[in-house]
Amino acid sequence: MRLKLRNIFLVYFVVSSVCLLYALLQIGQPCDCTHQLRADSSSHERHQHSVVLRRRCNPHGEDRLPVIYVVTPTHARPHQRAELTRLSQTLLLVPSLHWILVEDSTTRSQLVADLLVQSGLHYTHLNVQTPPVMKLKEGDPNWLKPRGVEQRNEALRWLRENKLSGDTGVVYFADDDNTYSVHVFEEMRYTKKVSVWPVGLVGGLRFEGPLVEKGQVVGFHTAWKTHRPFPFDMAGFAVSLSLLLSHPQVQFDPNAERGFLESSLLEHLVSVGELEPRASNCTKILVWHTRTEKPKLKQEEMLEKQGRGSDLNVLV
Ligand SMILES: *[C@@H]1O[C@H](CO)[C@@H](O)[C@H](O)[C@H]1NC(C)=O
Repeated sequence: MRLKLRNIFLVYFVVSSVCLLYALLQIGQPCDCTHQLRADSSSHERHQHSVVLRRRCNPHGEDRLPVIYVVTPTHARPHQRAELTRLSQTLLLVPSLHWILVEDSTTRSQLVADLLVQSGLHYTHLNVQTPPVMKLKEGDPNWLKPRGVEQRNEALRWLRENKLSGDTGVVYFADDDNTYSVHVFEEMRYTKKVSVWPVGLVGGLRFEGPLVEKGQVVGFHTAWKTHRPFPFDMAGFAVSLSLLLSHPQVQFDPNAERGFLESSLLEHLVSVGELEPRASNCTKILVWHTRTEKPKLKQEEMLEKQGRGSDLNVLV
């Protein structure tokens, strides 16, 4: 009886050792996701998933796609990290993308630097402070002065300094509070000069956007300052990198009249007739000019006065 029990233990020991050895050998296998990619291409949702996999496992497989340079001006505020997290995780779904994040500050902040490192994106972290005379004062309505101008121009400067005229790509100015469908990025990827599409919830309308006839932009649906040369929002167009590189002086005008910032760049680059309508001849909304409500922190201020404010070591 005792002998039998010993045999059972022996067999048990051998079997579990073999299993453990097998498991150890599996760890450290190189990541090969090509079979996963093929299996994943069946449905649309899964396609998005496969894009993420490809980005993680095979960063060099994207080389042939033109790069989308997403330029985002950002400034410190209580909900900055929330906005940047949301945007960065949308951008993660887009292959061959380079995020140029430009802080309105005298130095690059640790908060943004850490967020970028952890994002898993290709990125460039820049900063430039808006001159105090151009800045909004406490209580000013946010439309009083154009915002993010110096930051977008800094990104243009970086592109011109670091990219060659032969590089293919497209530049998109994406504020950190808008809402982006992943599909808007594929619409812009093969922009020849300037591509355009409508933007939802902007200009006091359900949407603003180009009017298209026979595949050509013939006018614009807008109700505000309709005499603007290019009466659409920053989120409604993308510019080819080579066009920007071949016009090295062109940038946003910090002194542009309200509503004319987009025009101040575009009028030096294209004519209305040359605009390339996307998103099914500008009939689909793939980006929304959403706004985040300013968080109310009254109770926080009250507790701070009592020395009992929320733990500052906890990043929000
Ligand atoms: C846009 O309109 C043109 C001309 O009417 C047409 O040939 C083309 O197929 C349309 N494109 C899309 C994506 O709907």
